[in-house]
Amino acid sequence: MARQRKPQTRFSRHEYKATWMALAQTSEQAMMSVTGSLDEDQAQATAAHTRRVLAASVGIKPDDVILEIGCGIGRVGRELAPRCQRWIGCDVSPNMLAYAQQRLAAFDNVELVEVSGFDLRPIPDASVDLVYCTVVFMHLDEWDRYNYVLEARRVLRPGGRIFVDNFNLCSDEGWQVFELHRQFMPAERPPQIGKSSTPQELETYLRRAGFHEVKIAEQGAWVQGYAIK
Ligand SMILES: C[S@@+](CC[C@H](N)C(=O)[O-])C[C@H]1O[C@@H](n2cnc3c(N)ncnc32)[C@H](O)[C@@H]1O
Repeated sequence: MARQRKPQTRFSRHEYKATWMALAQTSEQAMMSVTGSLDEDQAQATAAHTRRVLAASVGIKPDDVILEIGCGIGRVGRELAPRCQRWIGCDVSPNMLAYAQQRLAAFDNVELVEVSGFDLRPIPDASVDLVYCTVVFMHLDEWDRYNYVLEARRVLRPGGRIFVDNFNLCSDEGWQVFELHRQFMPAERPPQIGKSSTPQELETYLRRAGFHEVKIAEQGAWVQGYAIK
């Protein structure tokens, strides 16, 4: 299937809600904005890969309450909902959540929650076993990444697990993305343009937020950080 360009918006980077509403005005736009393609088979294959990465790092247990920060159309949620007690998808964009609702309609253990873009305020303290955030940090300012790590710690039960990722500035593949994005003239950078992390950045957030057993993994273009509350 031919690759299509992602839809562009004209908001400032921190205007997450307006940006991601505009990027998800149709189901096709939402799919493109989340996966970069309209290929459903590819979306399902990458979701299965994410599930395996989570299983190998933080684990997925049948009695887990799992929360995703920036769940999009529920790409990963469809993989996890059948494998946990409850799956909560949080997203800044009600449009994205509407498409997630359609995608996850078959599951009765799914909850979809609109968030402000800066916190997990609707979620009670110590109510979740696993928080993960995948393919989202690249779209956020660094302070907002850390705010979500702090919020994850708040909503996790003692012993709960966190997983975050981003593309890795220190990898050859991540550096290629950096160089590609460097071609944009400053005024023409889309607000959601991907900005990398380093292993040290993710490790710092997890440690500073008070997580234990912090681990960092580098896989191809990606860096992953995970830890225990
Ligand atoms: C590239 S998509 C990834 C979606 C999903 N995590 C996945 O891997 O399929 C980024 C998602 O993050 C959401 N998002 C962007 N900024 C956000 C913020 N500040 N807070 C919560 N969600 C945000 C967008 O609406 C979008 O659904």
